[in-house]
Amino acid sequence: MSKKLLLKDAHIEGIRYLETYRKQGGYTAAEKALKMTPDEILEEVKASGLRGRGGAGFPTGMKWSFLAKPEGVPRHLVVNADESEPGTFKDRYLMEFLPHLLIEGMLISSYCLGSNVSYIYIRGEYSWIPDILEEAIEEAKAAGYLGKNILGTGFDCEIYVQRGGGAYICGEETALLESLEGKRGNPRLKPPFPAVKGLWERPTVVNNVESIAAIVPIIDITGAEYAKIGVGKSTGTKLISACGNINKPGVYEIDMTITVEEFIYSDEYCGGIPNGKKLKACIPGGSSVPIVPANLLLKTVNGEPRYMNYESLADGGFATGTMMGSGGFIVLDEDQCIVEHTMTLARFYHHESCGQCTPCREGTGWMHKILKKIEKGEGKMEDIDLLWDIQRKIEGNTICPLGDAAAWPVAAAIRHFRDEFEWHVKNPELCQTQNYGLAHY
Ligand code: NAI
Ligand code: SF4
Repeated sequence: MSKKLLLKDAHIEGIRYLETYRKQGGYTAAEKALKMTPDEILEEVKASGLRGRGGAGFPTGMKWSFLAKPEGVPRHLVVNADESEPGTFKDRYLMEFLPHLLIEGMLISSYCLGSNVSYIYIRGEYSWIPDILEEAIEEAKAAGYLGKNILGTGFDCEIYVQRGGGAYICGEETALLESLEGKRGNPRLKPPFPAVKGLWERPTVVNNVESIAAIVPIIDITGAEYAKIGVGKSTGTKLISACGNINKPGVYEIDMTITVEEFIYSDEYCGGIPNGKKLKACIPGGSSVPIVPANLLLKTVNGEPRYMNYESLADGGFATGTMMGSGGFIVLDEDQCIVEHTMTLARFYHHESCGQCTPCREGTGWMHKILKKIEKGEGKMEDIDLLWDIQRKIEGNTICPLGDAAAWPVAAAIRHFRDEFEWHVKNPELCQTQNYGLAHY
């Protein structure tokens, strides 16, 4: 049984309200933190080994220590709640059921970073959640946890919720900042990183919802104790949103010591695959990370069990491994068609490209067109090589990671399932007349 730090009280009725949250010990971490110095808090976060939970896994303490502090210039904390990665819905769960955990984490983080005005940028499709957050913010304010002179410390902090307009690209941190400034959400070139020049060119820390929520248990139990949970550089707990061909889709908190096999098959988590079907593949970290076939998912290339953590999932590099990413765990059973699946993702990335960089704007469109052709049984063998060539020309040649995110699923699908692409080329009549997913595997 994995240790629970974030979701331990999620089942308690009324936990989204301040009174119940406080009864469970809510805001004691904030009270403790406000008696510490900002530097002491930063040391705890560094000691915890917490890595960014949005997808990149960048060390949070290091990111905070990069925050520039020019004299007289305000600094900001911006929480990235623009959770749009296909297969990822863990931040939604946190905000919907535990809004005060996020607000408490923001209070501690804002105090540590010196942000008197902090923001939550939330994806527009989560239309019902801003009201939950705003209600919780009002409750926290009325209780003296936000506003002026918080708990008599002299620290002031306001939190504002900003709704996005529904663009996936606004989850990229610099596009998010542009959008928050009221502009079109086009990613900026980095460097400068937001820690130096962020919102309105002011030093800004952008962190994922789950990362900021994790600050509460870190202060509560100390960074050193947090670092003892998990393994290696995968410290603490991680939320996984599991979906696809599993018996129990949902959000799970794991301590990153369990194997992928246990996660998929045990009743505590996904509960296995419906109708006794076989596992075909999985995308463990949201749609942007490489798909992995079952044999490499359950074991590494060295025959070691594959674990649900940053290092083990990436073991073997991009040729055989994948990434923890955002923790959006998508399971595909033996009936699923990889070509169709890859085409669906290509359509998504083409639609969501902001259009600033030629390789991404044009390349995503070409990949979608070619995949559509192959999927319909109208492709040629050379189209598979063309597809490979296009994805290679996108990767690493764009302003933001959306280009890579569009290229990797195509590369991994061809690398691991080239025979399925070839089957579509060789069996055009079957592609058009029957459920080829069932027919050829
Ligand atoms: P990144 O690796 O470029 O940056 C990670 C973080 O570290 C950023 O906040 C960046 O500002 C900071 N950073 C890195 N080097 C720095 C330096 N030298 N100085 C100061 N700060 C520095 O990755 P990025 O673009 O933030 O995220 C990409 C990831 O996001 C992908 O891996 C993907 O899995 C994930 N993603 C998640 C989504 C979701 O819905 N949760 C949606 C789309 C992508
Ligand atoms: Fe826009 Fe794509 Fe370039 Fe990112 S990679 S800036 S989404 S065109």
